[in-house]
Amino acid sequence: MSEKKTVVIAVANHKGGCGKTTTVINLSAELAKMGLAVLVIDLDPQANASLHIGKKHPSEVAVTCAELLLSEIEKLPLAIHSDTNIEGVSLIYGSLALGKTEDQLKDSAPRPSEELRDKIKPLHGIFDVILIDCPPSLKLLTSNALAAATHLIVPVESGSQYGMYGVTDLMKLVEKIHRINPALELIGALLIRHDERQTVCKLIEASAKNQIGKLIDVRIPTSTKVNQSAIAQMSLHALDRTSKVAREFRHLAEVIAKQLNLVNGSN
Ligand SMILES: Nc1ncnc2c1ncn2[C@@H]1O[C@H](COP(=O)(O)OP(=O)(O)OP(=O)(O)O)[C@@H](O)[C@H]1O
Ligand SMILES: [Mg+2]
Repeated sequence: MSEKKTVVIAVANHKGGCGKTTTVINLSAELAKMGLAVLVIDLDPQANASLHIGKKHPSEVAVTCAELLLSEIEKLPLAIHSDTNIEGVSLIYGSLALGKTEDQLKDSAPRPSEELRDKIKPLHGIFDVILIDCPPSLKLLTSNALAAATHLIVPVESGSQYGMYGVTDLMKLVEKIHRINPALELIGALLIRHDERQTVCKLIEASAKNQIGKLIDVRIPTSTKVNQSAIAQMSLHALDRTSKVAREFRHLAEVIAKQLNLVNGSN
């Protein structure tokens, strides 16, 4: 029997609040609903994904991404928590300590951008999909995510005129990381809070296509359900699977599963 192929998707954009964590959580939930084994890696010191889907408070977790990145690989099994608020989704917690980890990696690691890639190598063949939630910065944590990833999604806040601000810096970092991770493949920009009737959304859509190069053919609308689901520590699917925003995340999972051959035993 051939070993399963694991796809590692980094969800990155250094613009704060553009929908990275919401995408990671709801895409992970929908992929798990399809029967896939999913792991979320929370690489953000804010630990928002962990606060949403974790059963524990990040401060109570012995081995978070911070300890994993700085320790020997033996800590990996201790870092993975399979009991989360989303069925079928495991979690490596983020923590405030990740703020310091970047400096420590810079000082001590021989290849500071490749620590995460090395640490999660044993997980290839175990999970179908690993989703990495990145912090709103282009520093070492995001470099680690990009170096460990096979694929990249760039959420873009479509309803804001500043949604594309700084995105060329992200694309430059992706280009740089290609030198150490040539296989990294862009899935595309994902438009968040999109409303096709609004001029600003149409402008951001055109600009994202032009500057990022690829657009995912799914549009995530604005919905108060997103905040409600975070408060309830649920996925949108569990909160209200019939809502438009939940259906669009389902659609996103279907598009990605098809594009990356994740379903029908083809992986
Ligand atoms: N489609 C949406 N409709 C309404 N609110 C949304 C939507 N997507 C995200 N939000 C809200 O916007 C805020 C930012 O979203 P999110 O945390 O996913 O962004 P982020 O890119 O992870 O932020 P950060 O850069 O701080 O990590 C959150 O309060 C979230 O609930
Ligand atoms: Mg976030």
